[in-house]
Amino acid sequence: MLPHSPERLELTVETHSAGETAALGEALGRLVQAGDFFALYGELGAGKTKLTQGILRGLGVPAGARSPTFTLINEYQGGRLPVYHMDAYRLRRAEELLDVGAEDYFYGEGLTVIEWADRVAEILPRERLDIHLSVAAVADDDPDSGAIDDSGHVVDPGTHRHLVFQAHGFRHVHLLFGADQEWPNP
Ligand SMILES: Nc1ncnc2c1ncn2[C@@H]1O[C@H](COP(=O)(O)OP(=O)(O)O)[C@@H](O)[C@H]1O
Ligand SMILES: [Mg+2]
Repeated sequence: MLPHSPERLELTVETHSAGETAALGEALGRLVQAGDFFALYGELGAGKTKLTQGILRGLGVPAGARSPTFTLINEYQGGRLPVYHMDAYRLRRAEELLDVGAEDYFYGEGLTVIEWADRVAEILPRERLDIHLSVAAVADDDPDSGAIDDSGHVVDPGTHRHLVFQAHGFRHVHLLFGADQEWPNP
């Protein structure tokens, strides 16, 4: 039985290929509802966009459906729900996102997915699914591990990723619980 409450649920999943990460996203995408909000965290190359691609597939968004509404927001139509995909990487201030009307999307009819959510932490809705992705610790006995140099920098990220999902609020707890039923468990 998973540790969960109606208001909060945390799950950790390891993946060993880009396809596995996309498959996690796909299960989430099949279950999302209007107004859901995913906040993605993790370094460049951690797999945030790969996960998002899976989410789009789970929602049935046709390939190539992207229509850049603003430089900061990409809108995907043609799936079960519209998806608003934002990337906060280049933002200097969270207000820049508010200036282009992001809040209308947050509380709108679709799913919002935002990469580099830590850059705009102060404007995120309280009820959301936080997803932290990272390159898994480099270990000799891990066949999917990458390489690390003498100063501790990742020079080859390998294909092993560590994902921590934290659902806040009943709706997102329900969503994460449902998706977990479809995920491979160790
Ligand atoms: N287990 C994995 N999960 C996600 N991506 C992986 C994995 N293993 C290798 N990759 C590769 O890592 C890269 C992740 O890139 P991307 O999703 O664009 O990262 P981000 O958006 O976090 O910068 C892709 O080239 C992908 O093929
Ligand atoms: Mg990305």
